[in-house]
Order: sequence, then structure tokens, then C-alpha cells
Amino acid sequence: MSLQKIILASGNPGKLTELRAMLREKKVDLISQSDLEVGEVEETGLNFAENALIKARHACKETGLPAIADDSGIEVDALGGKPGIYSARYAGVSGATADAENNVRLLQDLKEVPEQDRTARFQCVIVYLLHERDSMPLICQGSWEGRILFTERGRNGFGYDPLFYVPTHGCTSAQLDSKVKNSLSHRGQALRKLLECWNLRP
Ligand code: IMP
Repeated sequence: MSLQKIILASGNPGKLTELRAMLREKKVDLISQSDLEVGEVEETGLNFAENALIKARHACKETGLPAIADDSGIEVDALGGKPGIYSARYAGVSGATADAENNVRLLQDLKEVPEQDRTARFQCVIVYLLHERDSMPLICQGSWEGRILFTERGRNGFGYDPLFYVPTHGCTSAQLDSKVKNSLSHRGQALRKLLECWNLRP
């Protein structure tokens, strides 16, 4: 039996690694959209769900295959929930230096904020679309509570992980083993819900 081909609508290598690891046991052939030369689409949505739908629809349209897309980010309470959906380009740059520059900007913006007020959460919405005009997309979400540190710690993961302190484990998400991160994270939670819905879908 040939495996079901599904496009992973993301160009973010950190997310791709995590989603692939978590979907390894599923009987699907997960193909990164960049392997099929599908370019990125402008994320014009006003929330995580809209942006995830935009990305999944674009990948379906370009490839004619079902697609999974994730839209995620960090909400910092002391910044009124920013950077939120703008997390990837918080410092105004994209590409290889974006993660490092975003972390510098976050520390700068929070420099006057004391430890007890540095609460934050990662948010994630994952969408599964069968085809471009699928009228019943599967949409699942997850969130992960933590706190923003004053300096970076750890080398695993990507993005804001070195600044995201996980109180339940006494370390940052960049100090967690990838399996442990996936078992706790916003993305892991959203994906597990998606897999449950997937199993229920006729
Ligand atoms: P997106 O690709 O538009 O969904 O942007 C997601 C951005 O949110 C990433 O580029 C990171 O900056 C941040 N982010 C999302 N999930 C994580 C995570 O698990 N760890 C660290 N940063 C994350």
C-alpha cells in the first residue's frame, strides 16, 4: 500500500524537524513544501488560525495534495500579548539571523520588567486541509505557559527557546531534550489533538 503524501506547509527548519519527529509513526509520506519548490505565502491573517489556513491552502493549491500547516508564536503579558502572530519577524529581519535578533529585541523590550511580570506563553494552531476548497478543515490548538528570562540558556530547539523558562521543569525549552519538549509544547499539544481528530474523520 502506498503511503498518503501530505505537504508540510512550512519553511521553518526548527518547526519542520519537530513536526516530522512527532508524525514519524503516522502512515504518511510527509513532504516539505520547499522540497517541491513551493514558495512562502504572505501571512495576512489577524490570528494564528487564519495564518495557518492561508499557509495550508497555498500548499494545497500549489501541489494538489493535502497539507498540514502550523502557525505559532509567543505572547508576552508585559507587552500586551506581543509579538504574537508577528513573532517570526519581531526584530524586523528574516533569514538566518532572525532568531538571534528577535531574542535581543525581546530582552531589550523587557529590560525594565521584573521577574514576576515576565509571564508568557507559546501558542500554536495546526491546520489540516484535504484540498484547496476543503470546507471542513481540521483546526487544533495548543498553548504552553512559561516566563521570559534575563539571559539566554541552552542550545536545543529554535526561536525563543533559550529565553523561555519552563517552571514545571526548572529550565528553558532550549535545555529540554527534543522528546520532552514535544511532549509539553504548544506544537506537541496541537498536533496530538489533530491526530485524534484525524482518526475520527471518515
Ligand atoms: P511562523 O512561522 O509564522 O508560525 O512563526 C513562528 C515563530 O514563533 C518562530 O519563528 C519563532 O520565532 C516563534 N516560535 C514558534 N514556536 C516556537 C518554539 O517552539 N520555540 C521557539 N520559538 C517558537
